[in-house]
Amino acid sequence: MEKNKTKIVVIGVGAVGATTAYTLLLRERADELVLIDANQKKAVGDAIDMNHGLPFLGKTKVWAGEYKDCKDADIIIITAGAAQKQGETRIDLLKRNVGIFESIMTEVLKYNQDGIILIASNPVDIMSYFSWKKSQWPVERIIGSGTLLDSARFRYLIGEELNVDPRSVHAHIIGEHGDSELPLWSLANIAGTKLKLTGDQKEKIFENTRDAAYEIIQAKGATYYAIALALDRICTAILRDEGAVLNVSTLLKDYHGVSDVYLGVPCIVDRNGVREVLELEINEEEKALLHRSAEKLKGLIETIDL
Ligand code: NAI
Ligand code: LAC
Repeated sequence: MEKNKTKIVVIGVGAVGATTAYTLLLRERADELVLIDANQKKAVGDAIDMNHGLPFLGKTKVWAGEYKDCKDADIIIITAGAAQKQGETRIDLLKRNVGIFESIMTEVLKYNQDGIILIASNPVDIMSYFSWKKSQWPVERIIGSGTLLDSARFRYLIGEELNVDPRSVHAHIIGEHGDSELPLWSLANIAGTKLKLTGDQKEKIFENTRDAAYEIIQAKGATYYAIALALDRICTAILRDEGAVLNVSTLLKDYHGVSDVYLGVPCIVDRNGVREVLELEINEEEKALLHRSAEKLKGLIETIDL
C-alpha cells in the first residue's frame, strides 16, 4: 500500500462495528476501510452497501477483507464479540469475549506489528489489558474506548440540565467503563466556573450516565451511535496527530496509587497513540472510588488466563 494512504480495519461489523465503519466513511477518515467479521456474508454485504453510497461521498476503498488485510493498517478497531443482553452486565461478557479475542489477536499479530489497536468490545478495560498482554506491544498503541462514551453522556446530561452546549461542558467520568465508573464533580466546569447543580441534580445526572447502556439496551437491544462517534473521535486524534485530550482506557502506572490495570482517564492522544496520561487533581472521595474501580477490575483480570 502507498505510504501516504490511510487504512483502517474494523473487526466485528455488528451494530457497533458497522455503525463505526459507516461513520468513518461519512467523515472520510481513511483511504481504505476493511471490514472483517466471522460472519463473512455480513462483512461482504456491508461493504457492497457502503460502496453504493460512494457517488455521494469522497473516495474511500471499502472491502470485506481477511486478517492478512491488517498488514499496513494504521488503526485496527476491534468491536467483535458478544454484547450484553437485557439484564446482563458488561462483566458477564468477559469469558466469552476473552475467548474471541484470543483468536482475533493471534490472527492480527501475524500481519501487523506497528499499527494502533483500538478496542470497544466489553468489558473494554479488561479486553484492552488482555490485548496489551497478548501483543506485548508498547502500551500506548493498545487503546480502549474507555470512559470517552461515558464522559460524552455525562457532558450531554449536564448540558441538558443547564441549557448549555455539551461541547462547552468540561466534565470527566473516569475508571471502569461500567458500573464502578466515577464522576469528577470536583473538576467539572463551564468556562472555568463551577456548575450550579444541587446534590439531587448531580445524583440524577450521574446515575443516568452510569446506567445509560441498560436503558438503551432495554429500549432497542444495543447501543451503537454514540460509541461509533467516540471511536471516530479517537481515530481522528490519531490520524491528525492532534494531541487531543480524550478519556480513553490505558494502563495506569501509579496513577493516584493505582497501577497495572487499564482504566478510562484523560489522556493525550496523537499519531503514536496515548502520548501522556493526565493525572488530574482529584479529591479523596474520588481517589477512593477510583481505587474501588481498579480493585474490581484487577480481581477480574486474575480470573482470566493471560
Ligand atoms: P453485535 O453482536 O451486533 O456484533 C458483534 C459482531 O462480532 C458480530 O457481527 C459477530 O459476527 C462478530 N464476531 C463475533 N465473534 C467474532 C470473531 N471471533 N471474529 C470476528 N468477528 C466476530 O454486537 P455489538 O452490539 O456490535 O457490540 C459489540 C461489542 O461492543 C460488545 O462487546 C459490546 O458490549 C461492545 N460495546 C462497547 C461499547 C463501549 O463503550 N466500549 C459501547 C457499545 C457496545
Ligand atoms: C455502552 C455499553 C454497551 O453503551 O458498553 O456503554
